[in-house]
Amino acid sequence: MNATAIHPARSTTEQAIADTLLAPRFYRTDYKALDKLNIEPVRAEWDAMMAEFERDENRGHFRKAIDYEANPIRMTPELQEEFLDFLVSSVTSEYSGCVLYQEINKHVDNPDIAALMAYMARDESRHAGFINKALNHLGVAVDLGFLKRAKNYTFFKPKYIYYATYLSEKIGYARYITIFRHLERHPEYRFHPIFNWFQEWCNDEYRHGEALALIMRANPHLLGGGNKLWIRFFLIAVYATMYVRDHTRPQLYQALGMDPTEFDYRVFDITTEITRQVFPLTLDTDNPTFRRCLERLRELNLANIAAREQGGLVGNAKRAGIAVASALTFARLYLLPTRHNDLPEKVLLAPAW
Ligand SMILES: [Fe+2]
Ligand SMILES: [Fe+2]
Repeated sequence: MNATAIHPARSTTEQAIADTLLAPRFYRTDYKALDKLNIEPVRAEWDAMMAEFERDENRGHFRKAIDYEANPIRMTPELQEEFLDFLVSSVTSEYSGCVLYQEINKHVDNPDIAALMAYMARDESRHAGFINKALNHLGVAVDLGFLKRAKNYTFFKPKYIYYATYLSEKIGYARYITIFRHLERHPEYRFHPIFNWFQEWCNDEYRHGEALALIMRANPHLLGGGNKLWIRFFLIAVYATMYVRDHTRPQLYQALGMDPTEFDYRVFDITTEITRQVFPLTLDTDNPTFRRCLERLRELNLANIAAREQGGLVGNAKRAGIAVASALTFARLYLLPTRHNDLPEKVLLAPAW
């Protein structure tokens, strides 16, 4: 069976458009508030980072064509379905980042922020384009232009954008580098050549995260007082979403020779270590209650999928109960003790993984 038979191009675009709790979203924000950001307190580090964006050492890397003859794809139809789902959600989140950064670039007058957004949009656009090439090779295509017009946009306050995009850039880095290092040790599991690109890819994401860290450190009101409650909220929401979503793709992790739970906790450890550069608190992901609550959210997600398929009054009633149970589990996670973190003097970090 080939990929076209499973996912014709049109339905793949539709899949990317579907808004579910776990699907990547498209955002708009208050651009005037971004104009007020002051970069001066971190000027030296900011200029060093911008020089790195300007040098763009990864430029050639994403122009290289994938050599499918030297690295043939090895996938069963079941794996192919999950892998396509993974690629479609990845291309959507890369593209959603690209659109957000482009929109900010277009609407702000602050020259530091405008220049940064142009570089980040450039990177996300090449990431999305690269995934799309891999999708094309599998016989499917996501029409990115159509996606931009048809997707619903969510308004997000600027500070939510800083917390959420910072975390998603750093988690993106942690995910890509963990997979890349694992496949370096076990090349027999490299079932698709796109994994060969992950190292340079994750360096782009890492740099994006550094930029957002500098913005937050330069504007410390974002990191204190009541905002600590928002930071805690985004940490839990992002970690929990990743855990639940990764566990919906068992074939993918089996093919990679990885256990999704072990993988996720490794990614949490790396992300937690990195976020010490900016967040005044970290989550204790080794707390047994934390782990039990994530498992509970995973089970509730499965129950929700089953109830949705069942449909009708009974299915809807079940879904309402599941929504309440999920909210309570999230509240339980939210009330767990966190760890205080004293911010280091220097913000920029060298990737150490
Ligand atoms: Fe990206
Ligand atoms: Fe990024």
